[in-house]
Amino acid sequence: MPRESIYRGGEEELPRPKKSGEPPAPTPDEKVFEEELRPRRLSQVVGQRKVLERLQIILDAAQKRGEPLGHLLLDGPPGLGKTTLAMVIPRELGVDIQFTSGPALRAPRDLLPYLTNAGKKSVLFIDEIHRLPPAVEEFIYPAMEDWRVDITLGEGLNARTISMTLERFTVIGATTRSGMLTAPLRDRFVHREHLDYYDLDELAVIVTTNARKLNAEIDAEAAAEIASRSRGTPRKANNLLRWTRDFAEVHGEQGRITNEMARRALEMREVDALGLEHQDRRYLKTLIESFSGGPAGLQTMAHSLSIPADTLEDDVEPYLLRIGFIQRTPRGRVATAAAWSHIGVLRPMNSPGGQGELFE
Ligand SMILES: Nc1ncnc2c1ncn2[C@@H]1O[C@H](COP(=O)(O)OP(=O)(O)OP(=O)(O)O)[C@@H](O)[C@H]1O
Ligand SMILES: [Mg+2]
Repeated sequence: MPRESIYRGGEEELPRPKKSGEPPAPTPDEKVFEEELRPRRLSQVVGQRKVLERLQIILDAAQKRGEPLGHLLLDGPPGLGKTTLAMVIPRELGVDIQFTSGPALRAPRDLLPYLTNAGKKSVLFIDEIHRLPPAVEEFIYPAMEDWRVDITLGEGLNARTISMTLERFTVIGATTRSGMLTAPLRDRFVHREHLDYYDLDELAVIVTTNARKLNAEIDAEAAAEIASRSRGTPRKANNLLRWTRDFAEVHGEQGRITNEMARRALEMREVDALGLEHQDRRYLKTLIESFSGGPAGLQTMAHSLSIPADTLEDDVEPYLLRIGFIQRTPRGRVATAAAWSHIGVLRPMNSPGGQGELFE
């Protein structure tokens, strides 16, 4: 089995070129803002009731037995609370957490310090775990199974492998693409939880709570307005709240976020009543106007829009699929009647997605 020596060392640590399709890295300002609003305890986490109930059970059981929590995989679309939960869990357990991510672990030697530093029952959080390189993945298997690593020293004929015992720790993995995880890695997670989109009431609670954290006064209708344009996603709700607060500070009375303020702010931000943003509308317009509603392949759409295909797949299409604006067919993406109507284009009788309806 080819295994990279973790002690080879000496290679230049060049900055990694950005892979196409990676979401833009949040600015330091956005990071601070996100951290500010993150719930600290499980009791402050809104929604995801069933997930939270199950987590509470495994946390209680692990604590009663004095054992580390079983490895936990959190999956779900961006901004729904995976990192939040991964940070809340060690706090509830009173244990340390280390952070890393799939793309940051390019070779086993990158992972080794995390494994040897992991204290008893502590948490090692690996974000974007679907992007672990195969060599690192193989290296982590014995660590997850038996809290042991096999280290190869030297090379060629002089190579020898030593086994090192680790503390019993917990891996929490987060992924937006659980389908990309290899079966052996997925199987090593004892617990798997999927986070789903939030309903309007839950988002309104998040908006109201976070407005308080930002020392902003917000009316219930304004919170509901922001919630309804947040696409079921707390991160979107937070970002729209932040923008609305800034807007109200400039245009409102003593910064109070009224319904009127929220509407004007969201209009200026070009987030429509369904939560569609400029990029979403561009996608739909291209599909409808350049490809007569489709079918158009993902790559074709990516070229036309000059947006990487995986950004479309991860960031744009899930919501359009969810609200029934597009369909994925074997021949490509097709705009549905609802999308034509939303964009306000007349749909020809013979359009591929059409069943002969005509919109004014
Ligand atoms: N259940 C929740 N209750 C309250 N706030 C939440 C909840 N889930 C997420 N948030 C808020 O949304 C923000 C984004 O969530 P988080 O960073 O955990 O998402 P994520 O699933 O890790 O996203 P990504 O896949 O992009 O890493 C958090 O800073 C937090 O303020
Ligand atoms: Mg995250």
